[in-house]
Amino acid sequence: MSIDVVILAAGKGTRMRSDLPKVLHPIGGVPMLGRVIESAKQLGRDRELEITVVIGHGAESVREQFAGSGVQFVEQTEQLGTGHAVAQAIPNFRRGATVLVLYGDVPLVKTGTLQSLLSASDKGPALLSVEMANPAGYGRIVRDDAGRVQAIVEEKDADADTLAIREVNTGILAAPADLLSEWLPELSNDNAQGEYYLTDVIARSVSEDIAVTGVRASDPLEVAGVNSRAQQAQLERALQHNRALALMNAGVTLQDPARIDVRGSLECGTDVSIDINCVFEGEVVLGQDVQIGPNCLLKNCRLADGTRVEANSIIEDAEVGQACTIGPFARLRPGTHLADGAKVGNFVETKKAQIGRGSKVNHLSYVGDAIVGDGVNIGAGTITCNYDGVNKSTTEIGDGAFIGSNTALVAPVKVGAGATVGAGSTITREVSTDELAVARGKQRNISGWQRPTKKS
Ligand code: UD1
Ligand code: CA
Repeated sequence: MSIDVVILAAGKGTRMRSDLPKVLHPIGGVPMLGRVIESAKQLGRDRELEITVVIGHGAESVREQFAGSGVQFVEQTEQLGTGHAVAQAIPNFRRGATVLVLYGDVPLVKTGTLQSLLSASDKGPALLSVEMANPAGYGRIVRDDAGRVQAIVEEKDADADTLAIREVNTGILAAPADLLSEWLPELSNDNAQGEYYLTDVIARSVSEDIAVTGVRASDPLEVAGVNSRAQQAQLERALQHNRALALMNAGVTLQDPARIDVRGSLECGTDVSIDINCVFEGEVVLGQDVQIGPNCLLKNCRLADGTRVEANSIIEDAEVGQACTIGPFARLRPGTHLADGAKVGNFVETKKAQIGRGSKVNHLSYVGDAIVGDGVNIGAGTITCNYDGVNKSTTEIGDGAFIGSNTALVAPVKVGAGATVGAGSTITREVSTDELAVARGKQRNISGWQRPTKKS
């Protein structure tokens, strides 16, 4: 069976009150439309699958953002209803295919649910419904006495009896392409909203004696749409809650599962512990026994076994070895590479820096564009002066070197293995192996010096 997925994403999303098209707003760090495309793609593992996205409002930005994702776009210049929207994709329908209609603003739909819908739709339409305690605003599913689906009636077109029905249309539907190609162009807009309703294909199918299957989704969140920032936040919390549960089930300690945000993927070894208010973005991999203190941001990084990150640290695009200590208040910027046992302490910033085994940069330093050997001690307040306003230059520090506090290393510059730099030096020339370099004003002591006194 081949599948033609149609994702509706042309609506304006007025209630978001945003300049960004609604479907580009993120859930769990991924634009809603991106999530829907991913769930759809999973269905294509064992069959032919093509995806068409119907765009309208903000078409250019949506197209741009998903240009490389292997989907096709069709533009719906006027939003005349969901039936009209799907009809725009008819030229992309393949003969004998099954069409699956999804919504760019229903981001948490699961592949398994779509799978059951598809299995139910080889002869006629199958729709995904859900029971709602408060069905206001949704199309109601009308069934006959035998429980067979008869029609979907939109709220604005419904009488009192129909309004009392709590089984509602999620909007998600699967149907043979050949039937939709015939029926959609024949829809009428003679209804309360003057729109071409996709939902009218259900009554049409029944009138042609083609049975409609109703598949019930068990979890309302899975089929919940986002129309406002509040609904977006609600789904974000639901997603984060599920992720936290999954992490705990995998053996991770979360100090508070309500205070972690994973906006990408987080892979953890055994006995990882994560304190409150940590945010994980992109791909983060934590080894065994890694401990993350409170209020940390980790983005696209790997931390090997036994490493500890203390409170309020930020790590981005970095590789960290085993048993390292980072923070509190450290910032590891892109290109930082810590070898096993390295220490980067409070108020230290690193960028494009390799720090060797067991080396320490413990306090108030900036180490950028630097290659630091093993067993090096970099004293408090040391700065690599790596930028002259135009060029970035490299600082190299050999194994076992000792850099005294408050040193400025003016790159390009090298400090040899075992060398020592006196505190407060400004190093502009190479220091050779095992040498001592002192580059600072000589101390003068003036005896008998009188401090000024205040006149009374
Ligand atoms: C639709 C269903 C309703 C269902 C509800 C679930 C119809 C007629 N009604 O109602 O039964 O309970 O969804 O949320 O289908 N869109 C376009 N182009 C259009 C119109 C809509 O792309 O011309 C897109 C919107 O961007 C949105 C989706 O289709 O993502 C649904 O549109 P919306 O107006 O929210 O549908 P409802 O009238 O709420
Ligand atoms: Ca809606």
